Amino acid sequence: MISGAGGQVGRFLAGEAVRRGRPISALTHQQWDIADPLAAERFIAEGDLVVNCAAIAGVDAAEADPDTAYAVNATGPENLAHACARVGAQLVHISTDYVFDGAQRHPYEVGDDVAPLGVYGRTKLAGELAVLAAMPDARIVRTSWVYTGGAGNDVVAALRRAAAGDGTVDAVDDQTGSPTYVKDLVDALFEIGEGHIREPILHVANEGACSRYEQARAVFEELGADPQRVRPVSAAQSARRAPRPAYSALATAMSVRAGLTPLRPWRAALAEALARPVDDGQLPSTP
Ligand SMILES: NC(=O)c1ccc[n+]([C@@H]2O[C@H](COP(=O)([O-])OP(=O)(O)OC[C@H]3O[C@@H](n4cnc5c(N)ncnc54)[C@H](OP(=O)(O)O)[C@@H]3O)[C@@H](O)[C@H]2O)c1
Repeated sequence: MISGAGGQVGRFLAGEAVRRGRPISALTHQQWDIADPLAAERFIAEGDLVVNCAAIAGVDAAEADPDTAYAVNATGPENLAHACARVGAQLVHISTDYVFDGAQRHPYEVGDDVAPLGVYGRTKLAGELAVLAAMPDARIVRTSWVYTGGAGNDVVAALRRAAAGDGTVDAVDDQTGSPTYVKDLVDALFEIGEGHIREPILHVANEGACSRYEQARAVFEELGADPQRVRPVSAAQSARRAPRPAYSALATAMSVRAGLTPLRPWRAALAEALARPVDDGQLPSTP
């Protein structure tokens, strides 16, 4: 069962499940509102593996509407956890590097102190805690800076379109994270879904870290566009509504020790993403 199947992770996960011949139900927001507790009871059955990809994932959108962010990022996953626990289903819930405040200057490990800066991170952290309280054997997968590089609205997709033009783009040079290719995240979700990795919280991100500016230059370089067209700006200059951690790279060593196959370095993953044709972003038909 995939909730939030219309989003970038949910769509890619659904497509990969079809490709692997797995029987799935991939339900979009319109079909399954995770904030509705009765819907969770209706959809989740004994023996299911539920992967929750639903969220208010827009950091500025969450800041603008904290009540909805809480309902979807905290109450929603809690509903799923209660329903899964009640009927004997498994739950994999996706969380974020934004549970950290960014004060650290080396990658955040699973046990590092959480201290989210904004509504998005606070509601996602509340979701983690609610899930584990309701269902201690659920798995929380924290990931970061997820992109497809395809036709959507993610950072790499937008940079790809910009690189095809001829103007300049501004990119923040004082925020560092671990860019993660959705394909690699989805491969890890399949591995975690098999159930052999028993740690309650896992970090899943491509290896290494860079700033948004370095990421944008790398996209231009991979596509043969002039990286000088990327101009560094500070987070303060970019004046976004919500605060973002200055540093949120994820360390994966503990997750790898728990059995996760290490993800490749972020630059290699980016190269593969950009070598793929831009897809049409449609949800594949499901069996
Ligand atoms: N994107 C990143 O860089 C990033 C980084 C770290 C962690 N994550 C986490 O990864 C997960 C997947 O995010 P994503 O990048 O795929 O985000 P996304 O593209 O925005 O997808 C989220 C999906 O959730 C749906 N949704 C919103 N409210 C819902 C509700 N009440 N019930 C059911 N579905 C609802 C949205 O549908 P509508 O658009 O129709 O409302 C959307 O299709 C999230 O948990 C996010 O926090 C993402």
